[in-house]
Amino acid sequence: MSSIKHYLQFSDFTADEYAYLLERAALIKKKFKGYEKHHTLVDRTLAMIFEKASTRTRVSFEAGMYQLGGSVVHLTTGDSQLGRAEPIEDSARVISRMTDLVMIRTFGQEKIERFAAHSRVPVINGLTNEFHPCQILADIFTFIEHRGSIAGKVVAWVGDGNNMANTWLQAADLLGFTVHLSTPSGYEVDEKLAFGGKTPRAGCYKVFADPLEACKGADLVTTDVWTSMGYEAENEERRKAFADWCVDAEMMAAAQGDALFMHCLPAHRGEEVEAEVIDGPQSVVWDEAENRMHVQKALMEYLLLGRQPG
Ligand code: CP
Ligand code: NVA
Repeated sequence: MSSIKHYLQFSDFTADEYAYLLERAALIKKKFKGYEKHHTLVDRTLAMIFEKASTRTRVSFEAGMYQLGGSVVHLTTGDSQLGRAEPIEDSARVISRMTDLVMIRTFGQEKIERFAAHSRVPVINGLTNEFHPCQILADIFTFIEHRGSIAGKVVAWVGDGNNMANTWLQAADLLGFTVHLSTPSGYEVDEKLAFGGKTPRAGCYKVFADPLEACKGADLVTTDVWTSMGYEAENEERRKAFADWCVDAEMMAAAQGDALFMHCLPAHRGEEVEAEVIDGPQSVVWDEAENRMHVQKALMEYLLLGRQPG
C-alpha cells in the first residue's frame, strides 16, 4: 500500500513534479477555455469527504472530475457513518474498494494520514487544520499566469500562522522563493510542523513583527481569515489580536508596484482585507478560485495516470 502516491501536503511532490503539473494544468485550462474535451479519467470515480464546509473545493473537484469524464461521490460527516464514529481506517478500507481516488477535507492532519495508510487508492488533502496544498498549487499557478516564474520572488503573508501559511512555507522551501511572515503574537507559524521537523532551505522565510514591513518589496501580498474553520470558539479573542493584520492600501503601496493580492476565500472585507484591496486592480482572487479546478484536474490525472504526453 505504501507505493500509492498520495497528496497529503505540498512537500509530498518534488519541484520537478510541480513543473510538470503546472504545465499540464495550463494545457488543461486552455482546452477548457476552448470547449475542447479532455476525457482522461473516463469511468473513474472520485470520493469527496467533507468534514468541514466548502464552496470552492467542492465545486472545483466535482466539476473538474466530470470534465475529465469521471464521476464523483459526495460524503459529509452528517450524512455518512463518519459522523457516527465508524473508524477512519474502516472508512478508508471500504471507500477505497469502490472508488479510484479520494479527496478529504477534515480537521487534524493525522486523520487524513490514517485514512491514506489504509486506502487502496490515492488520497488528496482538500484542507486540514495544518495544510491546504491544493490551494497553494492554484495560487502558484495563478502567480505564474500573471507574472511568470515565482522563483526568487517575495510572498508576504499577513495574518494567521495557519494551514495556508504552513503550506506557503513548504512551497517556498521547494520552489525557491521567500515568504515574509507577519503574524500577531501567539499566532505564529509552527516551523517544526510546517517543515515536518526538517531544516528548510536557508532564506526561504523571514519573520516580521510589523505587517507593513513584511509587505515592503513583496511581489505578492496574501492573507486569509482570522478564524479558520474549527477555531470558531476563539473568534472574539482573535478579532482583537488580529486588528492590525488587515491588508490595506498602505500595505499594497509598500509592496512592488506590480504586486498581486491573493486570498484563498472566503473573505471578510474590513477584517483581514479592506474592500479596496480585494476588489481593487491588484487582486487576482477570482482567477485564483477558478484555477483550483484546472490544477486539481492535472493533479487527479497525475495521481491516476502518471505523466501524460503532450
Ligand atoms: N479556498 C477554499 O478552499 O474554499 P472553500 O472553503 O470554499 O472550499
Ligand atoms: N484557513 C482557512 C482556509 C479556508 C479555505 C480555514 O481553514 O478555514
